[in-house]
Amino acid sequence: MTKLSYWGFLSLNALLACAASIPSASHRNCQRSLKACPDGTVIVSGTNLKAHFSTVQAAIESLPHDNSSHTILVLAGEYTEQLNVTRPGPVTLLGETSHLTDASKNQVTITWAQANQDSTGQSVDNVFSSVLVVAPTLESSYTGSGTTGYAVPEDTPFGNSDFRVYNIDFTNTWADYSDGPAHALSLSRANGGFYYCGFYSYQDTVYVGKLGNAYFYKSIIAGQTDFLYGFGTAWIQSSDVLLRNCGGGITAWKGTNTTFENKYGVYIVDSSVKAANASIAPDIVGQCALGRPWNSLHRSIYANTYEDGSIDPAGYIDWVVDGVSRLTSDTFMAEYHTFGPGFNATGRASTNASIVLSPKEYAPYNSPRKVFQTPDGKAGNIDWIDWQA
Ligand SMILES: *[C@@H]1O[C@H](CO)[C@@H](O)[C@H](O)[C@H]1NC(C)=O
Ligand SMILES: *[C@@H]1O[C@H](CO)[C@@H](O)[C@H](O)[C@H]1NC(C)=O
Ligand SMILES: *[C@@H]1O[C@H](CO)[C@@H](O)[C@H](O)[C@H]1NC(C)=O
Ligand SMILES: *[C@@H]1O[C@H](CO)[C@@H](O)[C@H](O)[C@H]1NC(C)=O
Ligand SMILES: *[C@@H]1O[C@H](CO)[C@@H](O)[C@H](O)[C@H]1NC(C)=O
Ligand SMILES: *[C@@H]1O[C@H](CO)[C@@H](O)[C@H](O)[C@H]1NC(C)=O
Repeated sequence: MTKLSYWGFLSLNALLACAASIPSASHRNCQRSLKACPDGTVIVSGTNLKAHFSTVQAAIESLPHDNSSHTILVLAGEYTEQLNVTRPGPVTLLGETSHLTDASKNQVTITWAQANQDSTGQSVDNVFSSVLVVAPTLESSYTGSGTTGYAVPEDTPFGNSDFRVYNIDFTNTWADYSDGPAHALSLSRANGGFYYCGFYSYQDTVYVGKLGNAYFYKSIIAGQTDFLYGFGTAWIQSSDVLLRNCGGGITAWKGTNTTFENKYGVYIVDSSVKAANASIAPDIVGQCALGRPWNSLHRSIYANTYEDGSIDPAGYIDWVVDGVSRLTSDTFMAEYHTFGPGFNATGRASTNASIVLSPKEYAPYNSPRKVFQTPDGKAGNIDWIDWQA
């Protein structure tokens, strides 16, 4: 309880009264003006003396390790730190902004510069590079290696049941080209929704690990190499996937054999995949592959999505290691109703890597309700998604 002495103008009662995630309409007012925030909102600012904490991680660590709901408002500014959320209860991180529905104008940035090596150059697991980690334990967040990745102990509890972020950018500034895994986000064994957020790096920008469920809405995800990767399930809705250069593939998923039918994979829907800006665009025409199989059970689908001329005419590509192709009949690297200069039907037909789906083939995957599962494989795990955002 010693932390309470830091809590400035908030009373203990007000803090404990903060029992539920605040509704969308109410947090939107709070993001525009501190005065409109519900009682119990934890305030972070590097400069405002009214704030409870000067770093976001200190605010996260002040929350009890239980199932209660908490909201943190981060005032405009740049925060140089790594975040790590292990608690099971709902957490909402709000970024102060005067442009609630435009991720390109976010006023809060969390930034860190790290790849998968320590200060002596020794390589370490990719998780240590991440700007934001959401996972119950360190082991559950490891990427590991081999076709099945790190063997997470089976008795590991599920982590955060309902993690939400609005209008915050997560930027890994390690290098301005692919120079090893450098995560902006790592989410495992948790449910997370990201609304009007930005994720910027070059390699492995977004990692959705084992039993991770991540929903992105009107967000920006920027990278060069394998920058949407993982084992879990990601649904990227109405967002911009920005190509800062080309390398590997945009998606690189590892599928998992389970006793139930799983839908693990990455779904990019009603979105736009395009060069990050007009200066890089002419350099990457026809060169960015939609994805490549990190293992043979890779699943990714681009649906109803615009593709600019940066996309490789073949679409997806194989990943050959020691002369061995990873493509099998289980590899599911697909598109459904993609359009724009990046979609070349002849190119797609010339390779076994790219699959173009019929409506019937896409139907089992065509909504978040169908793909987000509980750890034991039940569909419809979507209560943590904010449909009003
Ligand atoms: C949180 O809730 C879950 C599921 O209801 C329960 O299993 C778990 O023990 C709770 N955790 C804590 C720390 O209270
Ligand atoms: C996150 O915090 C937990 C609990 O303190 C710790 O065990 C874990 O190592 C941290 N994760 C990272 C990647 O630092
Ligand atoms: C365009 O994007 C590339 C890749 O991220 C970057 O290096 C370059 O600085 C950007 N140029 C402009 C004008 O923003
Ligand atoms: C999944 O099971 C198939 C069939 O037994 C096997 O060939 C494949 O290697 C397994 N893949 C993974 C990633 O475990
Ligand atoms: C489409 O792909 C085919 C086969 O790879 C190629 O010959 C053709 O030039 C491509 N068309 C465009 C417009 O890029
Ligand atoms: C696709 O796979 C079939 C069957 O394995 C093979 O005969 C064919 O050559 C492959 N085509 C391409 C373009 O790789």
